[in-house]
Amino acid sequence: MDKLTYAGNLESLKEIENDPNYKFVKGDIASAKDVERAIDEGVDKIINYAAETHVDRSIISPDAFIKTDIFGTYTLLEAVKKYRVAQYIQISTDEVFGSVKNGSFTEESPFAPNSPYSASKAGADHLCRAYFKTYNLPIMVTHSCNVFGLNAHPEKMIPLFITNLLEGKKVPLYGQGQQVREWIFAQDHCAAIETIIEKGQSGEVYNIGTGFEKTNLETTKFILQEMRLGEDKIEYIKDRLGHDWRYAINSQKLRGLGWQPGVSWEEGLRRTIKWYQENETWWKCIKSGDYLEYYRNQYGKKN
Ligand SMILES: NC(=O)c1ccc[n+]([C@@H]2O[C@H](COP(=O)([O-])OP(=O)(O)OC[C@H]3O[C@@H](n4cnc5c(N)ncnc54)[C@H](O)[C@@H]3O)[C@@H](O)[C@H]2O)c1
Repeated sequence: MDKLTYAGNLESLKEIENDPNYKFVKGDIASAKDVERAIDEGVDKIINYAAETHVDRSIISPDAFIKTDIFGTYTLLEAVKKYRVAQYIQISTDEVFGSVKNGSFTEESPFAPNSPYSASKAGADHLCRAYFKTYNLPIMVTHSCNVFGLNAHPEKMIPLFITNLLEGKKVPLYGQGQQVREWIFAQDHCAAIETIIEKGQSGEVYNIGTGFEKTNLETTKFILQEMRLGEDKIEYIKDRLGHDWRYAINSQKLRGLGWQPGVSWEEGLRRTIKWYQENETWWKCIKSGDYLEYYRNQYGKKN
């Protein structure tokens, strides 16, 4: 089920279009009517990936984030209660914990969200906890580090940079590019969710992390090097408002269930670059407007 906002694209599901195990329902998770219509199709598990996700958009206009990320989750949880859905997994982010200078966040770390996006996700996670405690429903929550891979919307950092470079443009890097992010290849994230579906316990929270920590400058330089381009392609721009310095997550609990990442950061990036090189039609249709121009207008060029 997907509302097909600007971020959704059925083209990405073309490969499984005729799979007998797949049926698409266009709908809004914040609409009880739409959710019930989807459940009527015969649903026993709900894995909620649907969300407004782009931090920059949440800074400009938080409204849709509150509606989808908080109210949408509430609507799904009500449906879990009403229809006795057998399993509900809330896909959340490490950003709910805020920024960490040293060490890493565990499942017990307190929430300290710093953007309207992470605050909305944190609100939804609290609702999940409350629905488990209050109604004893089969609910689990995951907190993942930054995901990258194929088919990602070109507003996210890695696809934005790759596609800008393919278009001959520069890449807008916040501040000095010293913020640290932990990265997971999307396929490994899917494998983690599969492990949790099979072995996770209701009421539990699982962090999903790889240990692949990189500064944004390191990620940028690696992409430039792989695409045989120089650092003159970097345009340093003013830092994002309330920008978290470092995210890092401890995923020992999930690894205890038998999961571990299978794709290295380097290999994942190489596959991602190749995919965008070979799928220009896909991203060109989606990449509306000039994103570098957008960032310049939003934050101004750094002196
Ligand atoms: N991308 C990351 O680095 C990352 C990291 C950790 C967690 N997450 C979480 O993973 C999930 C997916 O992230 P993504 O990066 O693929 O996001 P995305 O923005 O690329 O895609 C979100 C999808 O949700 C759909 N959607 C939005 N509002 C909806 C609504 N009201 N009803 C139904 N569908 C709706 C969109 O159409 C789109 O297909 C999100 O919950 C996000 O918080 C993402």
